[in-house]
Amino acid sequence: MKSSTGQKAIITGATSGIGKALAILLVSKGYHVGITGRREANLLSIKDSYPNSVYVACFDISEADKVADHLDLLASDLGKIDLFVHCSGTGVRNADLNLLDELQTTRTNIDGFTASMNWAYKYFEKQGGGSVAAISSIAGLRGFALSPSYSSSKSYQIKYLEALRQRSYNHAANITVTDIRAGFVDTAMGNGKGAFWQCSAETAANGIYKALTKGKDVAYITKRWVLVAWLMMIFPGFLFKRLKF
Ligand SMILES: NC(=O)c1ccc[n+]([C@@H]2O[C@H](COP(=O)([O-])OP(=O)(O)OC[C@H]3O[C@@H](n4cnc5c(N)ncnc54)[C@H](OP(=O)(O)O)[C@@H]3O)[C@@H](O)[C@H]2O)c1
Repeated sequence: MKSSTGQKAIITGATSGIGKALAILLVSKGYHVGITGRREANLLSIKDSYPNSVYVACFDISEADKVADHLDLLASDLGKIDLFVHCSGTGVRNADLNLLDELQTTRTNIDGFTASMNWAYKYFEKQGGGSVAAISSIAGLRGFALSPSYSSSKSYQIKYLEALRQRSYNHAANITVTDIRAGFVDTAMGNGKGAFWQCSAETAANGIYKALTKGKDVAYITKRWVLVAWLMMIFPGFLFKRLKF
């Protein structure tokens, strides 16, 4: 990602939390930013605060077959894009394994994510380069009993981003693909019981911005979560299944 101002970005899932904080940070750095989400009032309130820098597109990313059309329109409003950050996501604690909740999560975090990444990667391929990023999660490193669809959908995202990164390298496409693996962040989604090492959405946005500026493949938010990630990856399965969540 170029660090100069005058750049243009799209951020999905910017009506609240990390996406909103990142959108505001990018505007402060001189970016023009296209923001998306379902809560139109939230989108318009951000636009009201930065009328000359913010463009909006209100749509449901879980309707995956319509995502490309919405993003085409938003990109044409912006004129071009240098950076695409996918922050849309959902996940609930699902102790009862409610199927509707599981499916809402996979439609958003797998179908919506895939449609969004597919559009962004192909946009940059056509353009001859750019930066694409998504917020996956530390939770994607293992399967967790309390949220099977969430942890496995985040695992899917991690692998999908790795695949796009390899494709970019193989094709010399000049597209940076960054996997933002967040720990707990103080947002509507990150405020569950047992949260620790929590940072604010603004701190997360700053960390993401730094990682994008450095063109990182993988970034942990905050940095110390790399320790947890490392422990999670080496933790033996026969012990992991005994952990209580
Ligand atoms: N907070 C944490 O501790 C944490 C940790 C690791 C990873 N993450 C990831 O970080 C990302 C951002 O989450 P957050 O913590 O900032 O929570 P958040 O405040 O709840 O933000 C989630 C965003 O996703 C959008 N979204 C959800 N479902 C959507 C749908 N069907 N269509 C369109 N947009 C949708 C929401 O917009 P609308 O509701 O307006 O549609 C909102 O803007 C998520 O992918 C989450 O999994 C968060």
